[in-house]
Amino acid sequence: MREAGRLNAEVRAILQDAIEPGITGRALDELARREIARRGGEPTFVGYAPGGRPPYPGAICFSVNEELVHGIPGERVLQEGDIVSIDLGLTYRGWVSDAAFTAGVGVITAEAQRLLDVTEAALWKGIAAARGGAALGDVSFAIGSTAEGYGIVDEYGGHGVGRRMHEEPHIVNKGRPGSGLRLKAGMVLALEPMFALGHQATVEGPDGWTVRMRDGSLCAHFEETIAVTDGAAEVLTRIEAPAAQRAG
Ligand code: MF3
Ligand code: CO
Repeated sequence: MREAGRLNAEVRAILQDAIEPGITGRALDELARREIARRGGEPTFVGYAPGGRPPYPGAICFSVNEELVHGIPGERVLQEGDIVSIDLGLTYRGWVSDAAFTAGVGVITAEAQRLLDVTEAALWKGIAAARGGAALGDVSFAIGSTAEGYGIVDEYGGHGVGRRMHEEPHIVNKGRPGSGLRLKAGMVLALEPMFALGHQATVEGPDGWTVRMRDGSLCAHFEETIAVTDGAAEVLTRIEAPAAQRAG
């Protein structure tokens, strides 16, 4: 799983660098497929079809502005001032890694930048809380209590990861400290806070996948795959921990 995570981080960095005004979701998707294949991995999301959904057509999810998650990469062009969430699943030797980030395209508003910063900070608070012996509710609480003033999406959340992308447990982005199952060393989890400037409610699009905010407000999504240990969690989808985590 470490390898799957490291390769995911490598491909993510390449996608991050490629984001600029004028690029399409399709171009980023093709780049992701190429870079995943070059590393001997497989795009986890391609063909994913839980519970009678149409098979997911992309290697990445590409969700712009009021689109929250599961946007399908196509001909839409990124514009200066957009924010875009890129979600990437990479399978390596049968093990899955799942990670996402939201980035500004060119110059974005201060309000949008704050939303990105707070959502990413919540992810790192959740990671810091995910120590062996802690309760799952401690992680949910750490994430949710960072969201002061934002809509906390609770229709989607984090999950266990392993041979399959979505395993037990489901991880909500708000919760009560001390509640829920106890974390044990060796568990691998994907934490994924999703916050919005407006109301938390979401709607699903007619394509069967794209999830957007019901009120059309701007939203952000960050995700890392982590391994629980007896101490601080190991972040599998990062090559280096960002400053937010080093700062504690
Ligand atoms: N990272 C996403 C999640 O955990 C998975 C994307 S769903 C897919 O929900 F259809 F795109 F594969
Ligand atoms: Co996920």
